Amino acid sequence: MEDSKKYAFFEGDFVPLEDAKVSIMTHAFMYGTAIFEGIRAYWNEAHQQMYLFRLREHIERMWDSMKILQLETKYSVDEFCEIVVELMRRNQYKTDSYIRPSAYKAGLKIGVTLEDCPTEMSVLSVPFGSYFKGVPALKVIVSSWRRVEDNAIPARGKIVGAYVNTALAKADAVRSGFDDCIVLSEDGHVSEGTGMNIFLVKHGHLITPCNTANILEGITRRTVMELAESEYDVKTYCREVDRSELYIADELFYTGTAAQVTPIVEVDRRTIGDGKVGPIAGKIAERYIAICRGEVPAYHHWLTPVYKQAVGQKSQAKMSAKP
Ligand SMILES: Cc1ncc(COP(=O)(O)O)c(C=O)c1O
Repeated sequence: MEDSKKYAFFEGDFVPLEDAKVSIMTHAFMYGTAIFEGIRAYWNEAHQQMYLFRLREHIERMWDSMKILQLETKYSVDEFCEIVVELMRRNQYKTDSYIRPSAYKAGLKIGVTLEDCPTEMSVLSVPFGSYFKGVPALKVIVSSWRRVEDNAIPARGKIVGAYVNTALAKADAVRSGFDDCIVLSEDGHVSEGTGMNIFLVKHGHLITPCNTANILEGITRRTVMELAESEYDVKTYCREVDRSELYIADELFYTGTAAQVTPIVEVDRRTIGDGKVGPIAGKIAERYIAICRGEVPAYHHWLTPVYKQAVGQKSQAKMSAKP
């Protein structure tokens, strides 16, 4: 029978979500010394199966973020992947969901340092639909806030404290009536959106800011580069991007776990291309979702099925449940 209670993985155990609580003395709560990941799970009604998209890559990036913040763990990447899958099994969702693993400095002490402070880990999951509330193509501005620099708070780690930078920029954009904003680095070059990487289409190829542009090296970004090349013979150039290149792009789009592939049709009140979703963004967005939902067998190696067998069926799922 379906259990409606929702669980979290919290400091070594699976516990009811409402019991997964930390003290206000927790170092991460006081100083932002935590890292996290964001993973999507896609429900496939026909398969009666839930698929986690590129789970291992997310946990590998989590391990990189932990290195930056000197967070230590007894788990291997594979063991932690299995914890995520087990949590999803226990929560029994049959709808698209979002998974938030975290690792945090759990010492109960005052004093800003990364030394001598124990690490704890948690995972929670919630039902999750469209990030931009169904807006099919975005109107954005270039933010007056600048992206955190690698020598301030490294953006290549998903460091909790750094998301204050994102929140400041996003809040201003939304208050001004825009869907989101593009943030520049201190040197004036394009970095990324608020929780999304950005791609330009120009003369039939893709351009995206390079890994040293204070971006999070997105897993969706990597996926889109791979798909563009292998499916559509479209090359991606990773390089410095000027603000004015945004205005003259043929197409623009964001990529991210939450945002998936979302076209942008206006920047700074200037129309991009012909103001409609462009052909390259459109076909990549469609293909991406089909792949995530398990509809394209050639990409099943990117998916981890949650249920050992399709829900309500006796036959074994085609793919191994092990990540
Ligand atoms: C700051 C930032 N940039 C980019 C991304 C996109 O990364 P991914 O595609 O791995 O979700 C995210 C989301 O995780 C993010 O938080």
